[in-house]
Amino acid sequence: MSETLIIPDFDNKDDNYKLIYQQAETMLGSETNRIANMANLCAILKYGMHFFWVGFYLVEHKELVLSVFQGPVACTRIAFGKGVCGKAWSTKQTLIVKDVEKFEGHIACSSLSKSEIVVPLFDHNNNCYGVLDVDSDKLNFFDQTDQRWLEKLVRLI
Ligand code: SME
Repeated sequence: MSETLIIPDFDNKDDNYKLIYQQAETMLGSETNRIANMANLCAILKYGMHFFWVGFYLVEHKELVLSVFQGPVACTRIAFGKGVCGKAWSTKQTLIVKDVEKFEGHIACSSLSKSEIVVPLFDHNNNCYGVLDVDSDKLNFFDQTDQRWLEKLVRLI
């Protein structure tokens, strides 16, 4: 089993993601269990990209329920359309929040979280079965590069 991915501190976010993707493709491509793949993707992103919080919420009836994650403790249930995660679920679109304090209805699991990106997850029938939620302790941390690569990475699960 390969060790935790050590990413050189590239200045270029894209270069970091290219290395991350190579490892994720190898690890997740050889595993069919969705939870195991989510768990490893959280570790790869947490330690490879130095994100503050990385985790998954999965759809259960009319709620998102906390699944595997890396980082401080988090809220366990989010209603459809509520918070950043619930809005990404309801709109089926990735949401980038540059300043969480300016997002109406933001659910603050940690006061250290300053910006966020949430990527909806789709199954083979294009149904949304959950979201990937990534928090940063820095303002305005996420951009289209993160969106492009995270949307590509969650398709490996
Ligand atoms: N901030 C999210 C809630 C999940 S915690 O960040 C892990 C939201 O507003 O949906």
